[in-house]
Amino acid sequence: MSSNIALDYSKDMNPKFFEIRVKIIRKLIREYKPKKVLDIGCGTGIFLDNFHNEFASGTGIDSSIDMVNFANRNHKRENIKYVLAKDTPLHFDNNSFDLVFSMGTLEYVKDQKNHIDEALRVLRKNGILFLTTPTKIMNIYNIARIAGLAVARYWKINRYLSFDELEDIVVKDSADIIEHKVLFFNPSSIRLLDILFNTVSKVASGKLNKYLLGPQYIVVRKRS
Ligand SMILES: C[S@@+](CC[C@H](N)C(=O)[O-])C[C@H]1O[C@@H](n2cnc3c(N)ncnc32)[C@H](O)[C@@H]1O
Repeated sequence: MSSNIALDYSKDMNPKFFEIRVKIIRKLIREYKPKKVLDIGCGTGIFLDNFHNEFASGTGIDSSIDMVNFANRNHKRENIKYVLAKDTPLHFDNNSFDLVFSMGTLEYVKDQKNHIDEALRVLRKNGILFLTTPTKIMNIYNIARIAGLAVARYWKINRYLSFDELEDIVVKDSADIIEHKVLFFNPSSIRLLDILFNTVSKVASGKLNKYLLGPQYIVVRKRS
């Protein structure tokens, strides 16, 4: 593994893939007004940093020391701390956070159900989990490689989940799925393609959505 893993990863991140997630997070923050935010598998720390003005405190955890160091060097803020830690068990009490992110991390972890159970455990009641992970429908990262997205060469993939598999491992008696869609966007810089992607996205906004090409995101609310 390269010692510049965090720098490489940071350079590899497709700005459009970043923006599409920022857009959803912004909407969630406006709606739920979280005070305490946790980012599991926070990577470079760019997401917590981006929203640091909009919550009281943020905690990023990551199992890679390179990522934690990078986050501390490049995305340090007074109200954010980055900690070297694994996703399970999370070293936080029950009901500790208002909003939890888990972006592009579930596919790497060994016990995916436990990852989600833990994320929900540390959420307070009515708290929100925003999770993204590739879809099983395709090997998204082979396409991503071509499109210039951050790729799977850094960490060993455990498993991609289908839409249904992801829904199955969200505990239904303690949480509700608010939204479950594909992060469908034009990864290229060819602007003309934006029209095509927007049109396809609108046409396939119902149940067809899950057949679109791209990673999936799910928004889950812990029950009160
Ligand atoms: C693809 S990166 C995503 C980083 C960031 N969430 C983003 O979307 O840019 C996956 C991150 O998950 C971290 N990771 C992988 N397995 C983990 C685990 N079991 N516990 C905590 N972090 C983990 C990796 O070190 C890496 O920083």
